[in-house]
Amino acid sequence: MKKRIFSGVQPSGILTLGNYLGAIKRFVELQEDYDAFYCVVDYHAITVPQSPESLKSQIAHAACFMLGAGLDPAKMTLFVQSDVPAHTQLGWIMECTATFGELSRMTQFKDKSQGKESVSGGLFTYPALMAADILLYDTDVVPVGEDQKQHVELCRDLAERFNSRFGDVFKVPEPLIPEKGARIMSLQDPHKKMSKSDPNPAAYISLADSKDDIVKKIRRAVTDSGREVAYNPEEKPALANLITIYSLCSGKPVEEIVRAYEGKGYADFKQDLAEVVVETLAPIQARHDSLMADGSYVDVLREGARRAHEVSSAVLKRVKEAMGLSVFVDPAGVRI
Ligand code: AMP
Ligand code: TRP
Repeated sequence: MKKRIFSGVQPSGILTLGNYLGAIKRFVELQEDYDAFYCVVDYHAITVPQSPESLKSQIAHAACFMLGAGLDPAKMTLFVQSDVPAHTQLGWIMECTATFGELSRMTQFKDKSQGKESVSGGLFTYPALMAADILLYDTDVVPVGEDQKQHVELCRDLAERFNSRFGDVFKVPEPLIPEKGARIMSLQDPHKKMSKSDPNPAAYISLADSKDDIVKKIRRAVTDSGREVAYNPEEKPALANLITIYSLCSGKPVEEIVRAYEGKGYADFKQDLAEVVVETLAPIQARHDSLMADGSYVDVLREGARRAHEVSSAVLKRVKEAMGLSVFVDPAGVRI
């Protein structure tokens, strides 16, 4: 039997090149060998305020970019988290399994709450919902970027704690972090990850950016002092990030890229990098646009939610039975 993978992407903005290179590109490869469930995690997105119109459209765009990047409904299951009731149900149980101390140690929470006058309770308990997402599918492997490693490790701890109290209920998942591209950095600050919620759009390349936007953003990307195109993540982190992007988009090894720019300056390199990124995104954008226009993604998401409900409701029933919670109404009978 194929191993199960599960991963999620937040529709909190238009997906970025970081999402593509760090996660979605691999989702496409992994669908060949794994039984894959991919989820647009809209409940995670509302841990910070979202307007109804933009949330609705960002969910559609996220699904169409994921399908446009090559996810195939015949090979994997793609669905929206809020279409499947078991997620919030197990989410509560995981909140009661996690401790306040554990949740307080999550670096993403510290980063996102820093300097804010007020943050939602959901932003704090977010990793418990993420653990529920993963555990509901008896997941073996969770492909994510480096930033999510701590959350997957917490999920493992929660599963083990639950199992030691209530019996062998959960499968304990493993994270799968890419060697290269696990952290694509901001184009404006190489010490910050590229993020779709960055207030400065020059910091990220969105999958919806036009050719002109991409050329401009790469031309304006910060570089380090010196003139030579050399790969040195410690001393030249901004340039190393650009070379990594080049390598992942073109499939060429870093050494070959560095050799090709010997004796040339940053300007030549950046011009070619922009071209490589444009070429990578163009076919994804074309498929995204046609899926948005014909609306066929809606059927994909409906069928995905049906399959996700089937698997997750059975796991939830197992959990409730183990804990002594009510199963007088069979959760499998709940209609979405
Ligand atoms: P998010 O947009 O936070 O929901 O992230 C969705 C997936 O993309 C997760 O697996 C993240 O780890 C990954 N990801 C997000 N930003 C980056 C980045 N800058 N570099 C690499 N991976 C990323
Ligand atoms: N927290 C993840 C992120 O921001 C998104 C996510 C939610 C997720 N649930 C998940 C990722 C389950 C992997 C598995 O990137």
